[in-house]
Amino acid sequence: MSEKEPIGVIGVGWVGLVTATCFAELGHEIYCRDIDSAKIGLLERGEVPIHEPGLKELLERNSDRIHFSIEMGDVLANAKLLFVCVDTPPTYSGDADLSRIDAVVSELETERGHALVMKSTVPVGTGRAVERRLAEAGKQIAYVSNPEFLKEGSAVEDFMNPDRVVIGGDPGSEECAADAVAKLYEPIGCPIVRTDVASAEMIKLASNAFLATKISFINEIANVCEEVEADVAEVAIGMGLDERIGPKFLSAGIGYGGSCFPKDVSALKQLAGNSGYHFQLLHSVIEVNELQKRRVVRKLKKHLGSLVGKRIALLGLAFKPHTDDMREASSLVLAARLQGEGAHVCAYDPVAENRAQELLAGTQICDTAINAVEGADAAVIVTEWPEFGELPLGEISEKMNNPLIIDGRNMLDREAVRDAGITYEGIGR
Ligand code: UGA
Repeated sequence: MSEKEPIGVIGVGWVGLVTATCFAELGHEIYCRDIDSAKIGLLERGEVPIHEPGLKELLERNSDRIHFSIEMGDVLANAKLLFVCVDTPPTYSGDADLSRIDAVVSELETERGHALVMKSTVPVGTGRAVERRLAEAGKQIAYVSNPEFLKEGSAVEDFMNPDRVVIGGDPGSEECAADAVAKLYEPIGCPIVRTDVASAEMIKLASNAFLATKISFINEIANVCEEVEADVAEVAIGMGLDERIGPKFLSAGIGYGGSCFPKDVSALKQLAGNSGYHFQLLHSVIEVNELQKRRVVRKLKKHLGSLVGKRIALLGLAFKPHTDDMREASSLVLAARLQGEGAHVCAYDPVAENRAQELLAGTQICDTAINAVEGADAAVIVTEWPEFGELPLGEISEKMNNPLIIDGRNMLDREAVRDAGITYEGIGR
């Protein structure tokens, strides 16, 4: 295979688009395919359908090398390595819906020596099932598992500087496909973990489940801190300095969200359950996360009594800063519960305004934080957007009907908030 292998990317959602753009930046010719013709049209016009720092600039810089199509044939004719980046959303039971992957496998042609490189997050065992299916159909297509560990909001940076790349290939012809995939990542210069397909699949699910566990753990510590008058932020610093624990993912808040943690934790729990193992810990991780989102309502009631007719401002709607993604965001649960309590909910997010209009029926979406808090009986910081650290507290204090801030991400300077005459309450402090 040549030094700069052409690459096919099937599915240009968030993972596919970042993967395609970053491999183009490394000098590869990229052939992308998506069944969504509107999205392909946008991308062909140079527009980027998602908010991801640095992605638009990188896409522009490499536009000559990235080709978009709705035809699988265009990809198959130009690239042997096919990165599958289609989504695997949860079904009602919590299992992953693999229908999009099934559709891709059905479309693959024979006898071209292609390799299917799975980036989509799949249950352990999916790779082997696909390999069996391809072999039974007589298709000479290798299978490699290459799970992604990108974080929304820093995906480009994560792609170029990963902690590790995991490549799973089973013995046989797949080994040379796995070698070819490993070669793509050589310029990045990071540790590459070579393993079998099932272990690679498990590394992905176990990593996300572990991180989610860390968050639910610190959230429970926060809840106990509130009872015993300790400060979870101080506790997290003290714990995080122990190298075995590490400082990351110890920020207490109002629960994790997004398209990955909720889905992957429940997929692993289901996977274990389907194979006869009750994964006790993950049941609790999920339950703690759900309860954490609701604690804000309790805090508001503690200060305001009944919420009927109260105006509550939500600051931040995306599931985390630097993205407009609101999938499984705490803001969705919170807005619904507050409305259920009879409150009038107004909200502001620096970039998720359009998504919010679609997803938050009955919530008044404001164009600035100040407009959202004007006349409010309480403001809740839901997403730790850096601009909320710069809020003009004096002005906020004057404009609110009742100056009260519930800091759901422990991001504000408590003393500064109180000095401005605003009642402050964080999480676990
Ligand atoms: C997560 C993983 O971090 C990535 O490694 C993985 O590739 C990705 O899922 C995926 O499977 O595709 P992501 O969902 O983009 O990435 O976001 P994170 O930055 O991990 O944050 C997830 C949630 O946890 C957010 O709602 C965030 O607010 C919350 N969080 C994070 C906390 O509540 N506390 C923390 O200390 C850290």
